[in-house]
Amino acid sequence: MTTATAVAHPNIALVKYWGKADASLALPATGSVSMGLDVFPTTTTVTVDDGVAGREAWDTFTLNGHLVEDGALVRVEQFLDLVRSLAGSSARAHVVSENTVPTGAGLASSASGFAALATAAAAAYGLDLSQRDLSRLARRGSGSATRSIPGGVAVWHAGDDHGSYAEPIPAPPMAMVVVTIDAGPKPIGSREAMRRTIATSPFYPSWVTSTTETVGDMLAACAAGDFTRIGELTESNALRMHATIEGAFPPIRYLTARSVAVFDAVAELRAAGVEAYATADAGPNVVVLTQPADRAAVASALAGLGDVIESGTGPGARLVRSEGPGTPDPGVAPATQESTE
Ligand code: PMV
Repeated sequence: MTTATAVAHPNIALVKYWGKADASLALPATGSVSMGLDVFPTTTTVTVDDGVAGREAWDTFTLNGHLVEDGALVRVEQFLDLVRSLAGSSARAHVVSENTVPTGAGLASSASGFAALATAAAAAYGLDLSQRDLSRLARRGSGSATRSIPGGVAVWHAGDDHGSYAEPIPAPPMAMVVVTIDAGPKPIGSREAMRRTIATSPFYPSWVTSTTETVGDMLAACAAGDFTRIGELTESNALRMHATIEGAFPPIRYLTARSVAVFDAVAELRAAGVEAYATADAGPNVVVLTQPADRAAVASALAGLGDVIESGTGPGARLVRSEGPGTPDPGVAPATQESTE
């Protein structure tokens, strides 16, 4: 038996990923840029059971103390199949995950979930992967998980299977205020919503063109330390994504009246001289980008509109424990350089 435990945090995109160029390899149609959070960690332990192998045996997946038996188990098993194929193993695994993100509410629970799973599963199956390799691997579980491997402010490159990974970029100090309006599951998952947007939204081609341009603008703004520009690009890109999604048929609308009220309150904060910019993923919750000195003021201004949590810029995924033959040393952070080029 080998076992490994990893911790990962969610990330919130400043420039969104919405749409795949290749669904089987989980290649995005555009690049994206995110900030990792230092709240809502997911802790995942993978135990490889060498006594249980072959096609007839099952993996198990326990999430927040409950044995999972639905589609989430299938996603975990498919991901473990990929890790097994890289490791040349047919041994089954037990996955135990504690997720503090409101699961499925459009707060990137799949990002921290698959980043922690990739890191723990790779170690438990004896693979010693670089940060870049782990980022590529996490991508196959969930697109946004690619960016939770490096943490911090990160760019996820569009590209082929090899070229599509996330890496850290220099950026000014930033903070976020998460305004949770509804912690329940979203009405339609991002995979299906992306498929429908690509197939039916007349705005999708413009989304791809404009987002590709925005990634370049965002990288330049981050490198220049221009927080105002970063904020303006962030809010604009989020609204463009939601407009594109709303253009699908039948339409998909994630933002509710209460979400829009947060966008309005953020605009009022700006008018009062506080730099704050709103964004939202595939759900009604709104995340507000601000500077560390303003985060407490932003949080108290928005407290009446939802459940408010402040976050700084968070760390990348890391292995915290590993036991058994061939597992990597948890004390060593994954190399930022390639190990398998
Ligand atoms: O990681 P996925 O496949 O659930 O997609 C996430 C998509 C958004 O959260 C809406 C945007 C993003 O870039 O994180």
